Amino acid sequence: MSLSATDSMHVVGGSASRKLAGELSKSLGVSLSEVEVKRFPDDECYVRILDNLEGEHVVVVQTAWPDTSIVELMLLHDAVHDMNPSSVTTVVPYFGYARQDKRFKEGEPISARALARMIQAQSDRFITVDVHASSVIGWFDQIPAQNVSAHAEIGKFLRSRGVEMVLSPDEGRKENAKRVADVVGCESDFLVKERVDGETVRMAPKSLDSAGRNVAIVDDIISTGGTIVKASEQLRRQGAAKVIAVCTHGVFASNAIPRLRAACDEVHSTDTIENPTSAITVAPEIARAIVDAAGPPKAT
Ligand code: R5P
Repeated sequence: MSLSATDSMHVVGGSASRKLAGELSKSLGVSLSEVEVKRFPDDECYVRILDNLEGEHVVVVQTAWPDTSIVELMLLHDAVHDMNPSSVTTVVPYFGYARQDKRFKEGEPISARALARMIQAQSDRFITVDVHASSVIGWFDQIPAQNVSAHAEIGKFLRSRGVEMVLSPDEGRKENAKRVADVVGCESDFLVKERVDGETVRMAPKSLDSAGRNVAIVDDIISTGGTIVKASEQLRRQGAAKVIAVCTHGVFASNAIPRLRAACDEVHSTDTIENPTSAITVAPEIARAIVDAAGPPKAT
């Protein structure tokens, strides 16, 4: 099977990525398939695709988090393949398990590879967004795989919020902050931690002064929110006019959203994980990657 501009295209969204699948179908100008998803009393998953996808180029969109979404993706793939599509592109907006991209201790799995192998076996092409470890893309060794960036969309959004400085939480991701800042049209820097005494750690931008400025801290994932909460408290103490927390993947474990909202002026994420903060859609970037690979889609 191969992608071809002459195939008509359908987007199939799993329940973890319904909103993004809808945005993607709009960006591509193609149909969004209706999918029924429910749970049996014992919590097993049931899916049913209510369209005939024979001969179609099918784009399956499902974030791989939490674990139940991975099972749902597996079932969607099975249903799609039985309809004899011309090709299957799998879009996993947030690739869970990317932090276990190597064996840290004997006896551990390489979890990211396990997930990649499962997806690859059912796909002709793979797309993800701001994957935590770039090595993940290397596990897709039989099909084209692409990691698209949310930085342009995050930058456009932050420009509309009057941001004057973009910070990454550490030096390792300073290039991400720079890419976002270039779109905003402002300066970027990274935060450095300095131990003041046995109990106090100071966090401040390496070179820039945040006093009186609207500052955005951009991370790839916010999980517990601990990193950003600490950084925001310090920036406020240093006189920042406004602190905006932004990430691509809003995992927001337990009570992270209220904690972040108490510590920051604004909290935003993209729709790779759908939650109340996901105001930024990555659909245009994913659509561009699909069109670049297959040519403009023919709507059905
Ligand atoms: C770490 O490598 C990631 O890029 C994030 O900085 C991290 O996941 C944030 O975690 P938390 O929100 O729990 O501080």
